[in-house]
This record gives sequence, structure tokens and C-alpha cells, in this order.
Amino acid sequence: MSVVPEHVKPLPDPPVLNTQLGLLAALKARFLQWRDGLLLQRRFQQWALAFPLTRPLARRYAVRLFDLCAGFIYSQVLLAAVRLDLFEMLSDGPLSLAELSKRLRLGSDALERLLQAAVALDLLERRGPHAGLQTRYGLGMLGASVLTSPGVKAMIQHHALFYHDMADPVALLKRRGSDRAMASYWAYATSENPSELHDVAVGEYSALMAASQPMVAEEILSSYNFAQHQHLLDLGGGEGVFLAQVAARHPRLQLTLMDLPAVAKRAALRFEQLGLSARSQCVAGSFLSDPIPKGADLISLVRVAHDHDDEFVMRLLRKLHQSMSAGARLLIAEPMVQTKGAMPVADAYFAMYLWAMGSGRARRPEELISMLKLAGFRKARLLRQAMPLQVRVILAEP
Ligand SMILES: C[S@@+](CC[C@H](N)C(=O)[O-])C[C@H]1O[C@@H](n2cnc3c(N)ncnc32)[C@H](O)[C@@H]1O
Repeated sequence: MSVVPEHVKPLPDPPVLNTQLGLLAALKARFLQWRDGLLLQRRFQQWALAFPLTRPLARRYAVRLFDLCAGFIYSQVLLAAVRLDLFEMLSDGPLSLAELSKRLRLGSDALERLLQAAVALDLLERRGPHAGLQTRYGLGMLGASVLTSPGVKAMIQHHALFYHDMADPVALLKRRGSDRAMASYWAYATSENPSELHDVAVGEYSALMAASQPMVAEEILSSYNFAQHQHLLDLGGGEGVFLAQVAARHPRLQLTLMDLPAVAKRAALRFEQLGLSARSQCVAGSFLSDPIPKGADLISLVRVAHDHDDEFVMRLLRKLHQSMSAGARLLIAEPMVQTKGAMPVADAYFAMYLWAMGSGRARRPEELISMLKLAGFRKARLLRQAMPLQVRVILAEP
């Protein structure tokens, strides 16, 4: 489906410009064909490695290729360290191989392999040997980061499930429907009646979202000024961690959360525990088939649209556009692809993750903006962010 509305399609270029652009495109295509032919020649590859000016580039690509071949080992070493609580064990200071082996009840020969790998990946650091003291292992820069980020730790553990589906990636690409570990985990993604999902079906993903939400909320809060609003409605708001974090910074903001009944119940419990019940309400239902709660001057969709296919998102955006008052705003925050400066792995990650889940895709900001305009929104723009790592943020006006 094309998401570019007819009325925003650019006018055709004047004929002269068209001819020049056509010539440039043809030249570029010929150059790329010539370069591809060169890259495939063994003799050229050997020459590029030997020639001093091309050698650094050739080496860089060789290292990158090796990295790609063995990339899985990084996440599996990380998983082993997390499952063994290795980082927690070292939080009070470095320990020797013998001490770690005893605490972990793992043979020192096996443990030494893991420690060697973890040191190579900056998860741990080798300390010593110093005079009279044997070698000990302490937290590395990345190990310390994992230790202090419960969301990252939860994602590392969750990836074991994704890895299960990815073990045969071609079979995964050929399979459709819900017979995948990830599709069962994200039960709403392929469910006909998501509102009927019970607590067991939503519990694990809701807990994972709650654990990883604080990092996301920080990025959103630093990119948009919520102080100009009175009432925030968070659609697909999960267990309410995002709203709770906004509430802590903006004590006068009224809060409404809408999510599937079993999830909304969990959010209501959280709000009660946080003393937020008086200024919040949790609406149980589906944002696609039930009415959108009224009264908010800001609606947020955080990590929601990318879970769904284009047709679903268009229906939701049209419905939101119809239900919003003129002065209200819509904030979409989620991972978007082709983000300069974000991790290059993100595009590959979300392409496969959402396929395994059985629904949705990560979009470019321009695609989402086109979809918003097609749904009737007058204005939509990408907000500036200091560090767009987890999500990018789009603001739209009806
Ligand atoms: C990926 S989670 C994001 C949760 C939360 N916004 C966050 O960022 O932590 C998507 C959320 O959308 C909810 N959801 C999915 N389909 C829905 C529907 N039709 N109506 C309401 N909520 C829905 C899910 O239950 C889940 O809580």
C-alpha cells in the first residue's frame, strides 16, 4: 500500500531537469555495476588488501564480516553472564577465578572460558596479577551498565525467546501465523479478539515493557514539554510506567490510560500503589474497536504503532483524528528505522523482531508523517532529540 497521499505528491519536474536527473541516475547505475564486478574479483580483493591506500578499508570490511559471522556469540555470552548473576556477584568488588567458581558452582576450566569472552567484550575487566595477589575479575564498562539497567537485563533474558525463532531464519521467513515463540509471547499481535486475552497471556510482555519503559520515558520527556497540557491519554499504555513517570514531573496533569482489559487492570493496581488513583483512570478496551476516551488534550502512542500493519495503523490514526479536538496533540514515540547516529543494528533487529512477532514493522519518520497526513492530520513533525536511541518522537496536530 502506498502511504503517500495524492495531494502531497510533488509536481512533475520540468523536462530539462528530468533529463539531467535521468542522466545522473544512469551514470550512477553504470558505476555501481562496474564496482560490483570489481568487488567480485578475487584478484581485486587481493590487490585492495596489498595497496597501502585501500588496505585500511579492506581490513575494516574483513573485520566487519567476521563480526557478522560470529555476532550471535556476543549475545549468548551476555545471556550466560546475566543468567549466572555474574555482574551482581562482582558488584562489591573483583573476585578471583577460584572464588567465582565456588560461588557459581561452575568448574574453573569452563568458567575461565566465559570470563575470557566477557573480558574481550568489555563486560568484565581483568585486574592484576599484582604483587602477591592473583588475577581477579571486576566489572567492565558494559557489565556495569547492565547491572544498573534492569530494562536491559530483562531484554537480554527475553532475547532467548527471539533466538529460538531465529535459530532457523529461513524457516522463520517462510512461516506465517502464530506458530512462533514470539507470536505467542506478544499474544495481541495475532489475536482476533485481543480484548479477551487473560492475565496469563499478557503478564510476561507487560512486565517486560514495564521494566524497559523508564529508559524510553526519559527520552520522550526530554524531547517534549508536557507542561503545556492538562490531560494526557496514553493509548496502549501497558502497566502505566510511562504515565507514572510523566506524572512525577508534572503534578497537575490528569492521566488516562487505555489498554486491553487484563493489562489495564495491572495499570490500575500500579496507580493505586503509587498514590495516583485520584488523578488517573484506566480504561479497559481495544483502541481499535472501542470508543477513544474523551477529554484529553494530548494523546500518546508509545511503542504501539510499530506493532501493527499499515492498514491497522491507518484505521487507528483516522479514528484518532476524528475523535480529537482542534487544540489537542498526538505524540507518537517508537523505534524508527534509518535513524542516523542510532545503533546500526536497530534496523536489522526490528525488521526480524516484528516479523517473528507476526505483525507490524518499524517505519521511517517520513512514512509515519505521510500516514498521519493521509489520516487527516494537518501538521506532523519529528521532534529534536539529544540522543535518539530507543525511540524517535513525532508530534501531530489534527
Ligand atoms: C509494545 S507494548 C507498549 C506498552 C507501553 N506503551 C510501553 O511503551 O511500555 C504495546 C501495548 O499495546 C497494547 N495493545 C495492543 N493492542 C491493543 C488494542 N487493540 N487496544 C488497546 N491496547 C492494545 C498491549 O496490551 C501493550 O500493552
